[in-house]
Formats: sequence, C-alpha cells, structure tokens
Amino acid sequence: MKKKFSLVLTAFLLLFLQPLSAQHKFMWGVASASYQVEGAYNKDGKGESNWDVYTNKYHITEAFTTTNQTGNLSVNQYDRTQYLKDFALMKELGVNTYRFSISWSRILPEGTGRINRKGIDHYNKFIDDLLTFGIEPAITLYHWDMPQSLQTKGGWNNPQSVKWFTEYADLVFKSFGKKVKTYITFNEPQIDLYLITTLANNIIAKKTSPFATTNTEFSNQAQASHYLLTASATAINHYHALKLGGKIGITLNLTPTIPKDAKNPQDIKAAYLQDMIHNKWFLDASLKGTYPQELADLYKQYVPGFKTPQVDMKLMKENHADFIGVNFYAPSYVNWDDNFPMNCNWLTNNPDTLKMFNGPVRPEYLYKLLMRIKNEYNNPVVLITENGAGFGDRDEHLVNGQVNDSLRIDYVRRHIAAAMQAKAEGANLQGYMLWSILDNFEWIWGYDKRFGIVYVDFKTQERIPKKSFYAYREIINSYNRK
Ligand code: NOJ
Repeated sequence: MKKKFSLVLTAFLLLFLQPLSAQHKFMWGVASASYQVEGAYNKDGKGESNWDVYTNKYHITEAFTTTNQTGNLSVNQYDRTQYLKDFALMKELGVNTYRFSISWSRILPEGTGRINRKGIDHYNKFIDDLLTFGIEPAITLYHWDMPQSLQTKGGWNNPQSVKWFTEYADLVFKSFGKKVKTYITFNEPQIDLYLITTLANNIIAKKTSPFATTNTEFSNQAQASHYLLTASATAINHYHALKLGGKIGITLNLTPTIPKDAKNPQDIKAAYLQDMIHNKWFLDASLKGTYPQELADLYKQYVPGFKTPQVDMKLMKENHADFIGVNFYAPSYVNWDDNFPMNCNWLTNNPDTLKMFNGPVRPEYLYKLLMRIKNEYNNPVVLITENGAGFGDRDEHLVNGQVNDSLRIDYVRRHIAAAMQAKAEGANLQGYMLWSILDNFEWIWGYDKRFGIVYVDFKTQERIPKKSFYAYREIINSYNRK
C-alpha cells in the first residue's frame, strides 16, 4: 500500500513539477519579427500594415540603399513548408525558445473589429508546429508593423491607440494563451517612435532631413511614447487578470551612453541627457511607473500640451513588467551638437576602425548595463531578447558555399560571456536570444544588412548555416553541460 502510494506520489511530482522546473531553465533562443521574415503581405485576408505602405507605395529603402526593397516575400516564413525547415534548423542549433512577433493586421485586418480567422489559424498551427520541435514560443505583440487603417488615424500619436492595442492584445491572449507562456508587449519603442516613425514620415513628406530636426518634432514623440507605455501597462494588467499562468514584459533597446570627449562638460551633459531619453524614460516607466522628472519638464517645455495623466501613472505603477527584455547591440558615444534635437548626437559616432553595423563592439557595457538594472531596479527578471552582429551584404558573402563570419562569432562569444558574468554576480538573467537565426529584411536598409547566423539566398530561399551557427550551438551546449 505504502509502495503504491509513493509510486503515485512520484508520478504526480513528475507530472506537475516538471513544467515548473522547465519554466526555470535558461532560455536559449533566436529572435525575429513578423514584417522582417513572414512575407505573404497580402495573403489569406491579411490587412495592409504601415510597412506594406512604406515599402510598396513610398519606396522607403531607396533613401538608404540604392534600390526599392520590400518585405512582400522576405524569407517566406509564413509558408509552412518553409517554416518547418527553419524550425528543424533551430532544433539542430539547440535553442529552446523562438521569439517572433504577430502581425497585428494579419489577425485584425483593420486593426480593430473584424477578426481574420485564417490569420488566427495560421499562428495556431505555427505555434503547435514549433512546440512539436520542443521549442517554446515567446511572442512579441508589437514589433513595428501597425495596421495601416490605424496608422492613418495617427498611430501611437493618437490617445485611442491604448484602446486599439488592448483589443488586439486581448485577442492574442485568448487565442494563444493556453500554449504560449511568454509575451512581450512592445519591441524597442524608443527606436520605433523617435527614429523609424520620424524617418518614415519625413521621407513621405519629402522633408530635406529624414531625422527630427527640431526639439518640438522630437518631443512630440514623447507624447506617443506615453500612450504606448500606457498601452503596455494596460495589456500587462489584462494578461495578469486572465490568469493564464505565463509572464509578460516589454523589450527595450538599451544603450549605455559615453561622452565622446570624456573631458568636455558639454559632451558629458549630452551623454547624461541621452541616457534619460533612451534608457531611463522607458526603464522607469516599465519598472517603477514613473518618468524622470527632469526629462518630462524638458518635453513639456518644447510641447506645452505634453501630458502624463495621473490615472495613467497609477496604472503603470500598479502594473510593472514581469521582466525586462533587453536588446543590446552597442553603447552610444554622444556629443553635444546644436544641429541635433535635444543637442544630442549619438547616431553615427562609432570610433571603431572595423565597423560593425549596429555600433561599437563593447561587451563590457552589456555587463555594466545588466548590473545597473540589477542595482537600480531591484533586480528584476531580465531576458536578453536581442543581441547580434550585422554586416553589409557586400562584406558578407558565400565563399565556396560557406560564410566564415569570424567577427560575428567573436561578437556573440564575448557578449554571452559578459552577460554570464553579470548573471554570476547576481543579475537575474534568465534568457539570451540571438538576433537573428536568418538574414532578413532590415527595415530601411532592406536586404543590404545581414544579421543571420544562417545565410539566406533571397532569390532561391536557400538557407546555409554560417560558421556562427555552429559556434552558437557549441556555446549553448557548453553552458548546458555546466
Ligand atoms: C532591433 C530590432 O528590434 C530588429 O527589428 C532589428 O532588425 C535589429 N535591431 C537589428 O538592427
């Protein structure tokens, strides 16, 4: 009798404790985003998104590359035959997590209201297939592709955007919530609002500079960031209320700032300001429910109508992110420059001789960043949701059927080591997702920049693992053996 009881107990423990321990295992992953990989831009009832319009109507990549490029086909990951092969590659790589985003206009073609069942069915199948490979999905709700019908109503600059997003998030949670346990409300809001949206709007309006040139133009985006951060807190609140048993956070592009000239007081001031604009504004909002007052005052100075109503702040305070998704590529060297909004010039200051596309290679700043989050924000759970190295199409090509991307290998190795050092010193790091498994559509640079550890021949859709694929696999294996 006793024996029988202990057998039952063991079976019970195995059954119910296993998923719990699985949740605590380190998440090794790769990341992507719908517009960058799916293609199928007008298939199975998908509605138009802002990126469909930027690329097809306004040829946005022509401003940054020599040709017009779109995500209409991209790397064709909407196609089941194709994505099953990609999942097989992920399996071979040894990752246990795939971070991807849902295309909002695929499931709600007009952004709100009418549901496109075919879109929901597609993602259900996609998720089920992924799970059969033993890989957990991590869903980003918003990775920059907004339904065009909402974009024409002002996008994130419209206060109604909070409501639109809540409806969309609710549909995602209810459709996939039983099987998907990790959600990210937004990807890199700062880059999306202050850079990409501004670029797109200015190119469309045929302005002389694609960048924000005035403090007012720049600060207007702060109001949009407030709506977006309120939408994030609302979705977090709603997800928790549904009690689906997973976790939900937000992904921020975090970049430690360094004065370009360490002895110049103006550069020191610019680096301080840029840190608030880029990092602290979003970290404080997501983990404390506050904004840095000094910056809020500045925004108000340039946009007198700038508002952060008490009711929104209360909501943010009561609904912190369960984790912070960190996208880290590089720190920023910043100098004071009267020609830049807020006098901060950070965009192209890369002092390295050998230039990696996403900035100077400084893994020690990833370590510092993780320790800062630990120390200043009460050690929240952190997932590195993106880290990787991009190179120009011309610098990275097949030689005898192979890509020997030794610089990327070096980059990835040193960044993982830096992250693991922070973890060993107490940072609550629970995952690392590399950007990206495949070369894909790099926004305004189209296919001219390659970030994949798998090379894609964009004409034939052939996939060829680069040397970094095997190096990342070895790194994962070596950590799993420890
Ligand atoms: C951040 C963005 O989230 C992603 O979409 C982009 O492709 C990578 N950085 C590389 O630049």
